[in-house]
Amino acid sequence: MTGSANPEVTGGRSKRASRVGNDVPEPRVTSMFDSIAPVYDRMNTLMTAGLDGRWRRAAVRATGLGRGGRGLDVACGTGKLTAALAGAVGPEGKVTGVDLSPAMIEHAKRAFGELNGVEFVLGNALALPVADGSFDAATIGFGLRNLASYEDGFRELSRAVRSGGRVVCLELSQPRPRWWGHLYTGAFRIAAPVMGALFRRRAAYSYLPNSLKGFPDAQEIAEVMRRAGLRDVTFKRLALGGVALHVGTVA
Ligand SMILES: C[S@@+](CC[C@H](N)C(=O)[O-])C[C@H]1O[C@@H](n2cnc3c(N)ncnc32)[C@H](O)[C@@H]1O
Repeated sequence: MTGSANPEVTGGRSKRASRVGNDVPEPRVTSMFDSIAPVYDRMNTLMTAGLDGRWRRAAVRATGLGRGGRGLDVACGTGKLTAALAGAVGPEGKVTGVDLSPAMIEHAKRAFGELNGVEFVLGNALALPVADGSFDAATIGFGLRNLASYEDGFRELSRAVRSGGRVVCLELSQPRPRWWGHLYTGAFRIAAPVMGALFRRRAAYSYLPNSLKGFPDAQEIAEVMRRAGLRDVTFKRLALGGVALHVGTVA
């Protein structure tokens, strides 16, 4: 998997070009996530040493959502971030989780479908089944790397959010400095297939480290968000830079 180069992202410098989107075909992405849906939460907790909950709470705070708000969680997976958003908006609010994988959506419905004001819908992040400006904020948690175009993804999330609302992206990132980044991605490359073997999902879990190869760094993701029309884009690095939390405001 090589990824397509984007001279704009790199500004044409000699630095290796970052990819502009995931080049694994969507049906393969869907069946891969379908296959890991039953073990996803357990593997995630193991691979993140339980820190994933803390990162999701940071993402919820970044949305600025409060009681009665309307939140959209794109690439919701098993629904943990969706449920955390639901906690912020309360029973008087509304939260929609959207995912491409039917197995993930079924899992999310079973786990959180009974929560007040929460719904889970099958759909593509690049063509969301929601009306323009119908949410106060949208999140995408560890989902961006899977999209065929990162920029189109941000454009579509922005379309769903009202003017002045926020788009929040929580995603794996290449830590700095470079030596630490190499160590971190090296460890991920070893840990993911080991976890995959442990949970009998070897093929699926070799996809994960590959999707990080050539993924834009946090600074570049901020640029992608600006190109997609978001303003006041900021980001912070979490987990010693292994995760980045980006926030932008819809114009
Ligand atoms: C690593 S999981 C993240 C799940 C969840 N957001 C979390 O924080 O744990 C990535 C999710 O993205 C979904 N996904 C991949 N491509 C998608 C697309 N084009 N549209 C919507 N969801 C997609 C997958 O089905 C999967 O559930």
